[in-house]
Amino acid sequence: MFRIESKIDPRSPEFQQNRDEYLKLLKRFKEILSTIRKGGPEQAVAKHRERGKLLVRERIDLLIDRNTPFIELSALAAYGLYDDGFPSAGIVTGIGVIHGKEVMIVANDATVKGGTYVKESIKKHVRAQEIAMENRLPCVYLVDSGGVFLPEQANVFPDKYDFGRFFFNQARLSAQGIPQVAVVMGSCTAGGAYVPAMSDETIIVRNQGTIFIGGPPLVKAATGEEVTAEELGGAEVHTMISGVADHLAENDVHAIQICRNIFESIRRHEYQPLETSPIEEPFYNPEELYGILPVDLKKAVDSKEVIARMVDGSLFHEFKERYAPTITTGFARIMGYPVGILANNGVLFGETALKGAHFVELCTSRNIPILFLQNITGFIVGKQYERAGIARDGAKFVHAVANAKVPKFTVVFGGSFGAGNYAMAGRAYEPRFLFMYPNSKISVMGGEQAASVLITVKEDQLRAAGKSLSPEDREKMQQIILKKYEDEGSAYFSTARLWDDGIIDPVDTRKIIGLAIAISQNKKYDKTEYGVFRM
Ligand code: COA
Repeated sequence: MFRIESKIDPRSPEFQQNRDEYLKLLKRFKEILSTIRKGGPEQAVAKHRERGKLLVRERIDLLIDRNTPFIELSALAAYGLYDDGFPSAGIVTGIGVIHGKEVMIVANDATVKGGTYVKESIKKHVRAQEIAMENRLPCVYLVDSGGVFLPEQANVFPDKYDFGRFFFNQARLSAQGIPQVAVVMGSCTAGGAYVPAMSDETIIVRNQGTIFIGGPPLVKAATGEEVTAEELGGAEVHTMISGVADHLAENDVHAIQICRNIFESIRRHEYQPLETSPIEEPFYNPEELYGILPVDLKKAVDSKEVIARMVDGSLFHEFKERYAPTITTGFARIMGYPVGILANNGVLFGETALKGAHFVELCTSRNIPILFLQNITGFIVGKQYERAGIARDGAKFVHAVANAKVPKFTVVFGGSFGAGNYAMAGRAYEPRFLFMYPNSKISVMGGEQAASVLITVKEDQLRAAGKSLSPEDREKMQQIILKKYEDEGSAYFSTARLWDDGIIDPVDTRKIIGLAIAISQNKKYDKTEYGVFRM
């Protein structure tokens, strides 16, 4: 492979200015993250500690192998929602290593409204199980939850991907031979009782864990029976009388040790071999990304400059370099793993779509994972392009991406707008992971385009009625739409709603994608079959 020749001058004023602006965005992101990671209100944290319990992230730290990374997913779920009363949506999910095996960890944060579930907590839990299924990852549930957040029941209880999906997924995962382990470290009420009950193996902490279908107040109301939580479903009851739990732990630390012991005897099921190389750091410093990435999305970015700061040795075997340059395609290595990269370099034309589809076919036929680097305004519009069949060419690209069975990973490094989002493996195209950068934006189109479309529609309506839009009303309408798109297009808006798996620091991309490829090896890649490509 050849080394990418960077044309960037890190000493130029333009670079320096972009870097300064970017570092401001990054500072804000890190500040939000560190506030979120404190969990619930101070009193709730103090109460939790007084009970002798560890905080959720401390539990995870103890559970995973020492000095190994934990890829936390969607840490900013529910950010800006519910008056910011649900940091991380009250649940921490992510992938860690236990006895050398990658494991999906789903852990309630009881300091956040008793670990109860709102819509975003449910999405996060279900998404974690989906990732576990796609990558054959055993699941550990650190349970400490009051179940459904009752005022929100209509948004969390009845639908296909709501609360009930947890147990459906557990049954399906278990049936596929993917281990399900629960550690009951607090409350497991009502539907939540099924998390340990549906697990292959369950641990419960003495005087701390409880499992019951209906808690003491409900029992009293229903039957008049007066019973304490411990008598109804405590650790003694479930390890000696009901058999709902299998192991008794004295405290959090003991429970985590037992959980780790379980993983000593769990074997990896199958493995996707990939030809790896020794890891080489990029020739160009990844921190230079801060001076390159678009703070203002109107700025054109040469995607090869981004690739050069992500891949091993900044080495890249570019495919069709001279053809359709608004997409960069080629092979590289990330943390020693082979990867095919598609990166936007401008708007998508018909030939860009054909080049993209061709390259995806190369990756699937060679069983090489694909990294999509999105910075896309969409497909080109206009009479000339419609007549040339842009929709047909775009459809080929979408076909190729939708059916590609090799693992896909998507990182949005700029904008993600319109059907470009689809062709470049947006959320609906099931990339194994999708990450945003703090500067990135996602919406059906840019705010200015949306304002222009809506104003044109309004003007046409008024003209038909013999009226017109005053310049003041036009300006007002434009400002309202721009503001709406600005807010709703932000990476924070997206990540709060689980449209992605989290916002990441650009410098961490190669480590995260390297780990993601390693994780994908837990399941043999399926064979890709394509449907009808319209010619
Ligand atoms: N729905 C809505 N809010 C709930 C809730 C629920 N199911 N369970 C707890 N909360 C809220 C509490 O109102 C409190 O909110 P506040 O801080 O604004 O006052 C917060 O969560 C903490 O609850 P608290 O009871 O003070 O904490 P705790 O640690 O002593 O007990 C539970 C936690 C979960 C054991 C206990 O709250 C409980 O039993 N909740 C009811 C569980 C239940 O019956 N769920 C059925 C739904 S499927």
